[in-house]
Amino acid sequence: MSIILSAKHIIKTYHESGRNLSVLADINLEISPGEFFVFVGPSGSGKSTLLRIMSGLDKDFGGSIFYGEKLKPSEISFVFQQFALFPWLTVAQNIEFGLIARSVPDKKRREIVRAELTTFGLEKFAHAYPRDLSGGMKQRVGIARALATEPRVIFMDEPFSELDSFTATELRKDLLRIWRERKPTIIMVTHIIEEAIELADRIAVLTPRPGKIEKIFQNTLPRPRQERSQEFYRLEDTITEIIKP
Ligand SMILES: Nc1ncnc2c1ncn2[C@@H]1O[C@H](COP(=O)(O)OP(=O)(O)OP(=O)(O)O)[C@@H](O)[C@H]1O
Ligand SMILES: [Mg+2]
Repeated sequence: MSIILSAKHIIKTYHESGRNLSVLADINLEISPGEFFVFVGPSGSGKSTLLRIMSGLDKDFGGSIFYGEKLKPSEISFVFQQFALFPWLTVAQNIEFGLIARSVPDKKRREIVRAELTTFGLEKFAHAYPRDLSGGMKQRVGIARALATEPRVIFMDEPFSELDSFTATELRKDLLRIWRERKPTIIMVTHIIEEAIELADRIAVLTPRPGKIEKIFQNTLPRPRQERSQEFYRLEDTITEIIKP
């Protein structure tokens, strides 16, 4: 079996004002290329910390992360909960940002930006600034920006939790469509169990801090997932039961 990312014995301790806070305790996992992998767990269990470590944003940790399948750090991108757009850049310029950093030639860059604007229904907003957009539109830009560089692995930290449920549902559908078409590996954190079941191939449940993997569920429900089916409810109950304090 091929592996695109593996984590071995990941440990993380924050040191703050003379105190040590143990946040992750021995995380081990392997992720396959093209997999949609989701973490759920109680608040403060270290989910965001783990995502930052796995994506290379945080290099101060114990244990090791291996990238397989010749994955390069430049082929990884990140979508943040708070969108994290550059307020001084337009929508088009935000999407273009990673392409400039990777020295993609002008013409190609314009083509990609145009294509991503279309994919996310953002054509009319190309020259708008983030402050003029709704939360849903901002996160469309956040995802478009992350996808523009054709990443092979995308990390997403609660990307829909700032949105109203109608907008979140729409964006989840878009994300699934894009995942089907482009087949990146997606590694996401959510606190909504329904969302995890709708999206994931596998769901890892973390323990309260210091986070360890309590259990990994293989989600074999057929796609598109029927939220009102018995099997869906059954899995939701099982996971909820484990997370309950
Ligand atoms: N830079 C930091 N310095 C010190 N402590 C931190 C830092 N970042 C996070 N923590 C602490 O580490 C713990 C885990 O934080 P983290 O943000 O990874 O959890 P989380 O599972 O993502 O939580 P949430 O569900 O609320 O997003 C929390 O107790 C948090 O207060
Ligand atoms: Mg978090």
